[in-house]
Amino acid sequence: MPSSAQAIEAPSTVSRTSADPAFSADVLACFRSPRRAIPARWLYDLAGSELFEAITNLPEYYPTRTETALLERYCDEVAAHGGAGRAVVEFGSGSSVKTPHLLRAVQGEHYVPIDISGDFLRDSASALAADFPELAVHPLEGDFMRPLKLPDAVAGVPKLGFFPGSTIGNMVARSSVDLLRSMRETMGEGSMLLIGMDRIKSPDILIPAYDDAQGVTGEFNLNLLRRINRELDADIPVEHFAHVARWNDSYARIEMHLEAQTDMTFEVLGECFSMAKGETIHTENSHKYGPRDARLLLRAGGWTMCHEWTDPDDWFALILAEAKPFQTAP
Ligand code: AVJ
Repeated sequence: MPSSAQAIEAPSTVSRTSADPAFSADVLACFRSPRRAIPARWLYDLAGSELFEAITNLPEYYPTRTETALLERYCDEVAAHGGAGRAVVEFGSGSSVKTPHLLRAVQGEHYVPIDISGDFLRDSASALAADFPELAVHPLEGDFMRPLKLPDAVAGVPKLGFFPGSTIGNMVARSSVDLLRSMRETMGEGSMLLIGMDRIKSPDILIPAYDDAQGVTGEFNLNLLRRINRELDADIPVEHFAHVARWNDSYARIEMHLEAQTDMTFEVLGECFSMAKGETIHTENSHKYGPRDARLLLRAGGWTMCHEWTDPDDWFALILAEAKPFQTAP
């Protein structure tokens, strides 16, 4: 009998120890607090990343295609405004799909893709190296929210940071300023930064972009609950939650929530929790920036805007900024 007892125990031990401790800490903190919120980064497991990829192709989700069109059209101008010849340093390179346009225009000798996921990084780095045989690619695995040491090969080479996708919109003001300051420290004074930011616009456009007719964004949001059930021995009734996208005007951001459609109790890692009908879990923010908001945010992080490019509707902005020497007095 001991052998069958072992066989029954083994899977639960395996699933408990395989849980990422940072993930379980964030999820437990969420359900123990009356203000339920889970950091957005946990949305992006493999299934979540694939669903986000599907989102970028939705008719309602304008940011990706608008930014890609801006890059295709204006990369030469980015090079002409001081980007030419610089080492491109991409923050959160992921699959590096938008980078070839920029690399082709800038014509520098070095490319430093930075990402948390080493596997992702090496795959996309080698794919890029094949398309740009003259380019020296220096993949750097790390968390770009903190200052990083760049490879020695780019010491003394002028740098152009690249942070597309309106990823900065995920962060609250304080964190985005911390990130901009970290980027300045990582690349140094005199560096430039090309950053994509989504503009403030009518909720009639914004809400459908985050609550599409096919329900892909809803699946992306609900996948977080499925992930919790899978990785944290939980039994959250996913079918009793609804995806909600709200425009929070005072923070100028889209918020994604998961709303309980009924009173419920469930367990996560052996701990019991309850939610009442109508209560929500806040899962993601997507901040939007008007022209002056964007400039002020950049300046707070040590970056001065040099130039910006937008689409005819002014829905999305590609902004080039420079790390000028600090000036405190006029
Ligand atoms: C990856 C943060 C840029 O905020 O538009 C899209 C994430 N969430 N639809 C965004 C997202 C739901 C996206 N970012």
